[in-house]
Amino acid sequence: MRHNIVPVGGGEMTYEIRAIVDIADKLKKLGLKTNMENIGDPVAKGEQIPAWMKQIVADLAMDNASYGYCPTRGVLEAREFICELTNRRGKLQITPEDILFFNGLGDAIQKVYGSLRHESRVIVPSPTYSTHSSAEAANAGQPAVTYRLDPDNHWLPDLADLRNKVRYNPAIAGILLINPDNPTGVVYPESVLREIVAIAREYDLFIVSDEIYHNITYNGETTLPISDLIGDVPAIAMKGISKEFPWPGGRSGWIEVYNADKDPVFAKYVACILNAKLVEVCATTLPQMAISKMMTHPQYPVYLEERKQRYERASNIAYKTLKGVPGLKVNRTNGAFYMAVAFEDGLLNGQQTLPIANAEVRVLVENLVSAPGCSFDKRFVYYLLASTGICTVPLTSFCTSQNGFRITLLERDELELARIFQTIAASVTAYLKS
Ligand SMILES: Cc1ncc(COP(=O)(O)O)c(C=O)c1O
Repeated sequence: MRHNIVPVGGGEMTYEIRAIVDIADKLKKLGLKTNMENIGDPVAKGEQIPAWMKQIVADLAMDNASYGYCPTRGVLEAREFICELTNRRGKLQITPEDILFFNGLGDAIQKVYGSLRHESRVIVPSPTYSTHSSAEAANAGQPAVTYRLDPDNHWLPDLADLRNKVRYNPAIAGILLINPDNPTGVVYPESVLREIVAIAREYDLFIVSDEIYHNITYNGETTLPISDLIGDVPAIAMKGISKEFPWPGGRSGWIEVYNADKDPVFAKYVACILNAKLVEVCATTLPQMAISKMMTHPQYPVYLEERKQRYERASNIAYKTLKGVPGLKVNRTNGAFYMAVAFEDGLLNGQQTLPIANAEVRVLVENLVSAPGCSFDKRFVYYLLASTGICTVPLTSFCTSQNGFRITLLERDELELARIFQTIAASVTAYLKS
């Protein structure tokens, strides 16, 4: 190339959750049966979309308006409906102008960090959903700045670490929290949320609160939206339909902006996000038109409750099966549909293996794990995949140096789910002894 055309930070945009699928596909071609427990798409894992939901979409497909552009901020009726959901709680009042639709939160995440001044940093949890950390780091052209989620304390944030990092790094302008969390399944209690808001207030920061899993909590847990606690601190809440309906293929999500009127710099930044969307005209129209119809349908709470109960059962099967396995740090999930399992420090090395029956598969995996920079947990994940067909994601691909793996709780067949976790338990034991 005449010039180096790769932007600073270009290497930060990795997405292991999907990268591992390429490897699983190769293994499938070689005849291996796989269980894809790597990606958070309930539909791909066999979720049956109820007939009444499909009917709403079918009816909208007959409406000419579904085929047009919509206003840049989003369909007004959808924004009014969402606004009412937040305002009804009585803690904060927003208007439809404070809501902005995107083609899924993936799009929102790119725009929110991409509209920041490069020197301004948003501190992100570690581990974190890597779309956030990668986009933030790519905008800064620097590695992510992180605060620790503690595997020895239910994956709750280490608030002393957060406070210290904020205090000593003046480049930090915002704090990301994901609640309920991907990849850990932790649900934040009110006290933790209050403390994060207090830190933001003390240091004049804004908050990004990813609440895409807000209505997916179980094991008796619930959590508050940040709008209930934010007071006068500027914030952006991120919400969407990918997980809750679930309709990830609809590519629809939105941000709610809180307290833009309280800080002129924050207001200008939000205007930059809107401008970034303006040049694209608007987000997908039809899913927005479906939102109020879906959410006010009498069957909506019934369906959501059935799913939550299913995730609760899966969470407990997973927890009970793995918690006694020596070498693992296991926390029960209380929200979303992922579990992050950490290895005790110092147990993994570059020699451990699992038996791989198929010679071709073994060669492929041996080549992959001998590539420079293959982390110890990636090695484990590849061996697990090749030996058992179970596809998980290395924890180190979630912006953390903590070795482990992330697995979804989406398998609908509970006997198969139990078998998967028993197989993992046995494989971890065999791997650590090998
Ligand atoms: C925490 C979190 N935020 C955002 C997203 C992206 O959602 P969307 O499908 O709206 O792009 C995901 C997807 O897994 C997620 O886990």
